[in-house]
Amino acid sequence: MYKINENYLKLPGSYLFSTIGKKVREYSEANPDREIIRLGIGDVTQPIAPAIIQAMHKAVDEMGVQESFRGYAPDLGYEFLRNAISECDYKARGCEIAADEIFVSDGAKCDSGNIQEIFSVDNKIAVCDPVYPVYVDTNVMAGRTGTYNPDTGMWSDVIYMPCTMENGFSPDLPAETPDIIYLCFPNNPTGSTITKDRLQEWVDYANQSGAVIIYDAAYEAYIAEDDVPHSIYECEGARTCAIELKSFSKNAGFTGVRLGYTVIPKELKCGDVSLHALWARRHGTKYNGAPYIVQRAGEAVYSAEGKKQLKAQVAYYMNNAKVIYEGLKSAGYTVSGGVNAPYIWLKTPEKMTSWEFFDFLLERANVVGTPGSGFGPSGEGYFRLTAFGTYENTAKAIERIKAL
Ligand code: MLT
Repeated sequence: MYKINENYLKLPGSYLFSTIGKKVREYSEANPDREIIRLGIGDVTQPIAPAIIQAMHKAVDEMGVQESFRGYAPDLGYEFLRNAISECDYKARGCEIAADEIFVSDGAKCDSGNIQEIFSVDNKIAVCDPVYPVYVDTNVMAGRTGTYNPDTGMWSDVIYMPCTMENGFSPDLPAETPDIIYLCFPNNPTGSTITKDRLQEWVDYANQSGAVIIYDAAYEAYIAEDDVPHSIYECEGARTCAIELKSFSKNAGFTGVRLGYTVIPKELKCGDVSLHALWARRHGTKYNGAPYIVQRAGEAVYSAEGKKQLKAQVAYYMNNAKVIYEGLKSAGYTVSGGVNAPYIWLKTPEKMTSWEFFDFLLERANVVGTPGSGFGPSGEGYFRLTAFGTYENTAKAIERIKAL
């Protein structure tokens, strides 16, 4: 009889957002007359910007004509998109990232889950606590995390870096030295940020200790304050210790379109082995490239019109963030995030766990959020709301919560 990958059996429950989806579906079926407002998963609600739609239409037409038809995309991404990314996301900010250090993919979720494959199972990972569950779950699947303790909600071989109100939701350097460090700023789920000086400390630490940082910058477009870095490559020495993940989902509304990229600088080496070469080998073997139409859509994100329209879209969501932040604060909640990030992180009312508050909001206000404990043990007693709803629904949800 064949054998399965038993690491999968170690995973407790289902994926966080699947669990929430199921609970909401069940509630909705039992209460069909209730109008539920979903501010749980960070899924966008605004339509794709006109400049991007136009580029997609053009690309669709090209595919129907012999001369401009395209088959398989280059597995690492089309040059036109990699050049636009290199120029606009990096060189324009003084970061020397070349087009051929960018690997285009179908999104940061897959990349953040797949990247661990190029590292040995013996490596020890360090994660922020709370954390985007994909980092931990995919390491569980790979057999890198030891055993799960249901009482503490922790894995025996994972280094947890608590992010709490006391440290401004920004992790301290861990006591035990990790091999792979996952950082995400602006942060999901807490909505916190890191200053450039503080990020530089992490880069120095990784270079000194021989660790690699996997830096998830999916929410970079939401940065409003000056001292917050847009990329880890703004820090000196990051080219020898950091991989960066980026997404088009949150800045351009591509959650359904699917596009992202990973940056691996050529200098990033483990001994003599180039991580760039390993990821190129992996990408080439397992992936046939993001669709041409979608990569043209991605290119339009960097056009003058695209940039203008997306700036307005980000501002729309950040206005929602303000409505949530101020509304909850006026209702007496302890709130953070929502300034450089589309997530608002609030303390649950006293004596209510994160999941109890989830049920309370769902049943009493018909509002869906995400329980903090779903992101890790230090998330217990917190709750996340997303600013990605429509303005009307966001305002209504906050009025309902205030009325409780
Ligand atoms: C979230 O809600 O945390 C995100 O939408 C999940 C994701 O981007 O995959």
